Formats: sequence, C-alpha cells, structure tokens
Amino acid sequence: MTRTIEIHDSVEEVSRRAADIFAKEALAASGRFSVALSGGTTPGRLYSILADEYAEIIRWEDVHFFSADERCVPKDHPSSNFKLANDLLLSRVPVPERNIHRIHGELGSDQAAITYERDLEGFFGLSLPRFDLILLGAGSDGHTASIFPDSTVDSAKTAVPVQIARLNSNRVTLTLPVLNNAATVVFVVTGENKAEIVRDVVVDRVPFPAARVNPQEGNTVWLVDSSAAALLPGREVTVLEF
Ligand code: 6PG
Repeated sequence: MTRTIEIHDSVEEVSRRAADIFAKEALAASGRFSVALSGGTTPGRLYSILADEYAEIIRWEDVHFFSADERCVPKDHPSSNFKLANDLLLSRVPVPERNIHRIHGELGSDQAAITYERDLEGFFGLSLPRFDLILLGAGSDGHTASIFPDSTVDSAKTAVPVQIARLNSNRVTLTLPVLNNAATVVFVVTGENKAEIVRDVVVDRVPFPAARVNPQEGNTVWLVDSSAAALLPGREVTVLEF
C-alpha cells in the first residue's frame, strides 16, 4: 500500500500522466478492467487524451466504466458527470454499451442508488466491489466523489443517495469502503483553488473525505499541477510519499 503525490508542471502534464496510468492499468488487467470515473470538470482533458491517443491501444472491449458519483439530473444535462465523460471519451472509443454502468440520476437519488447498487452487485458479486482503478477529484472543501465533510454517508452500503442542500444538489456516490477497496486510486487535482486542500491533506493530514481515501490493499497517487502544489514545502521534490 503506497500513497504518493506527483507534482507536474501543468494540467496537460497531469492529464497525460493520468492517461498513462489508466492505459498501463488497463493493459495489465487480465480479462476485464473495472474503472470508476471521477466527476467534476478536471478530468475533461484526461478523457480527451484517452480518446485521441489511446483509442487503438487499449482493449476497450475489456473496459467496464462506472462512476464514482453522479448528480441526479438527466444524462444530457450540462452538470451530468456522465455527459462530460460520454462527450469526451465514451462516445469516441469502441467500448460496448453493455460495459457502461451509468448511474441513472434521472430516477432521483434514492432509486438511482438502489439501481446502481444492484448493478455493482451484478458485476462484482456479493463481496465489496474492488475496482481496478478509481479516478477521483477533490473539492476545495475536502470532498471527494460526493462524500462531503458535512454529509453522513451510510458506509454499510456500496452506493448511497446524498442531498447537498447548500449546493441544491441531489447525488449518488460510491461510499468510502468501496473507494478504499480499490487496487489503484488516482486523484487528479489542479488549480490554485485546490492548493489549500492539497496542503491540508498532504502536510496537515486534516481528515477530510479526500484524505480518508487510502486503500490499505492498494495504491493511491495524487497527480497535482504546480498551482495546486503551491503551498507544499520543498516543491522541488516532485514525487513524495505521504
Ligand atoms: C462531482 C465530483 C467531485 C469533483 C470535485 C472536483 O460530482 O462534483 O465527483 O468530487 O471531483 O468537486 O471538481 P472539479 O474537477 O470540477 O474541480
């Protein structure tokens, strides 16, 4: 089990590194490769690189796409995490439709969570899902997926409904036990507005949800650009364990 942070010069370098990790993990998988995609906007460039440069390299028929979380909106709504991934990646590579395990946010958070849990059980069986790879982002308040510092998430489940009143947003999210059972977790965190949360997690060890993702039987890597690393001491070090 390792947890490292890699500091890269730019969003482009972070995205390329993330795509490289995705491809290596996918090609190393035997049979099928399960990945949960992050929400938010940061992974957009990563998704485009995968579609533009790895379409002929990755065995997409072996890749099963899930989501770390989803907003309860129609799948073509501008704030849908699925829409971003579908527009930039899923619709541009030859992944079979049956391999796309979308969270049906349009059903409302309670029903969408139940339906997603059933899909997870159908794929992973009754044991705790162990994703080959989970891509995550981090909010400036320390949330990850849709696990927020002020939200209570039923960790006895694999996927749960979440209501975020201050964002007027209903969502479905994977729970911490699932995130912490992954073989590999990659955080993609860029921009100066994430500098404080990166410091809080890496240096000050503040137990934000994003800091609590650290699989004991897996590896976690934070890929950050220099803006998000701005408050880290000794930034000449580009890879460090934490
Ligand atoms: C979501 C995400 C969330 C996201 C962070 C960072 O649905 O919003 O899952 O956890 O990764 O909020 O979002 P940005 O990449 O847009 O900064």
